[in-house]
Amino acid sequence: PRHLLSMADLDATAIRTILDTATQMHDVQKREVKKIPTLRGRTIINLFFEDSTRTRSSFEIAGKWMSADTINITGKGSSASKGESLRDTVRTIDAMGVDALVIRHGASGACHQVAGWVDAHVINAGDGTHEHPTQALLDAYTMERRLGSLEGKHVAIVGDLTHSRVVRSNLISLRRLGADVTLVAPPTLMPSGIQTWAERDGFALSHDLDGVLQGGGSGRPIDALMMLRVQKERMSGGYFPTPREYTVGYGLTRDRLARLTDQNPEIVICHPGPMNRGLEISADAADAAQSLVLDQVSAGVAVRMSVLYHLLAGEESATNVGATNEG
Ligand code: CP
Repeated sequence: PRHLLSMADLDATAIRTILDTATQMHDVQKREVKKIPTLRGRTIINLFFEDSTRTRSSFEIAGKWMSADTINITGKGSSASKGESLRDTVRTIDAMGVDALVIRHGASGACHQVAGWVDAHVINAGDGTHEHPTQALLDAYTMERRLGSLEGKHVAIVGDLTHSRVVRSNLISLRRLGADVTLVAPPTLMPSGIQTWAERDGFALSHDLDGVLQGGGSGRPIDALMMLRVQKERMSGGYFPTPREYTVGYGLTRDRLARLTDQNPEIVICHPGPMNRGLEISADAADAAQSLVLDQVSAGVAVRMSVLYHLLAGEESATNVGATNEG
């Protein structure tokens, strides 16, 4: 079986293959009649132990448009709420003969564990603060469509780095696609050990958003700005800086947006969603002409169709895509 558990499973060639196929799937998405027979007879289970709007519905739509049978199970509505373990839950579903399990779970590493317990293909739809590989793929796809190749482009990722699985997956894909990356966050929202990680993987770090927006960080103007959600639900002890201080220091406010678009009208703004409007991103920025937020959502369907295709549509189409249980 092959899985997509981490962006580390995909080398640059495999990422390129998935993004190229996503372009074809995007054409399917634009058709009046969207259904293609590619995954007829296959069954995909979306097993979500954490809430989701975009990821779960786009995986379901992707599967349905490819003629797979798709079923949604949530933690709250399953026997997990009666105390059934994750291992028993996934082995129970696997025993029904399903082809793929798309899993979101609050524990980092949960999807890797599941991959060792089941015969089905496992796709990580977000595990704790670890990774969200299909988000990184759709982000790369969306940015490339507007900016062209990401080779040599400068991407700044701003916000709650400590809790972001999106940033961990994006760092791998963006570096593999040749982009320069600067991460920006207040000291309290930078994970420990990030300095060593930055030196090893070749990205820049900053606590000074305005400096980076003026061409600081790696010393070059930025081509894309990715704002991350402040993940209040993972901050049970409260968070610092306060929301007001956060917005003043790290929010993409109307003023910052105006300065940024004056310098570079072609800049693109991304946010994985859901957005805290007024906290990390102003309504002006979220709805600006430079905002790709809804393009990201749209790309999510095409990219997930591509991932399902490469994992499920046959041995010959899945070359180099995804990790293996053996590997
Ligand atoms: N970006 C993202 O994963 O959104 P959802 O939590 O709505 O799926």
